[in-house]
Amino acid sequence: MPKETTISIPLADLAEGRMVTRSAGGREIMVCRTKDGLFAVDNICSHAYARLNEGRLRGFRVICPLHGAAFDVRTGAVLGAPANRAIGSFPVHSDGTHATVTVPDAPDVPHIAPPMP
Ligand code: FES
Repeated sequence: MPKETTISIPLADLAEGRMVTRSAGGREIMVCRTKDGLFAVDNICSHAYARLNEGRLRGFRVICPLHGAAFDVRTGAVLGAPANRAIGSFPVHSDGTHATVTVPDAPDVPHIAPPMP
């Protein structure tokens, strides 16, 4: 049976346009707020190893800092090359004070590699 991990982030830490990261279940997750709501996606770009939270968030589009791929934080879909593989996206629930995200544990996430020097 797959395991899952739940993370909780105070809404006060999630101002619109801000990206917050947490480790959960062997993944690095980025949670953000846009004018469309709260969203959570894998924080590691599917093209190579780069942290998306170190890039830019423009509306629902997050742009990778390394080669400029773009992803839709609402779905994880690729919006711009060079990435051609979607990133994981996870539902976010809010109780009015915290954003809660439950993600499946990923002991063998293929695109996670050691950090670049
Ligand atoms: S590592 Fe993100 S576009 Fe290349």
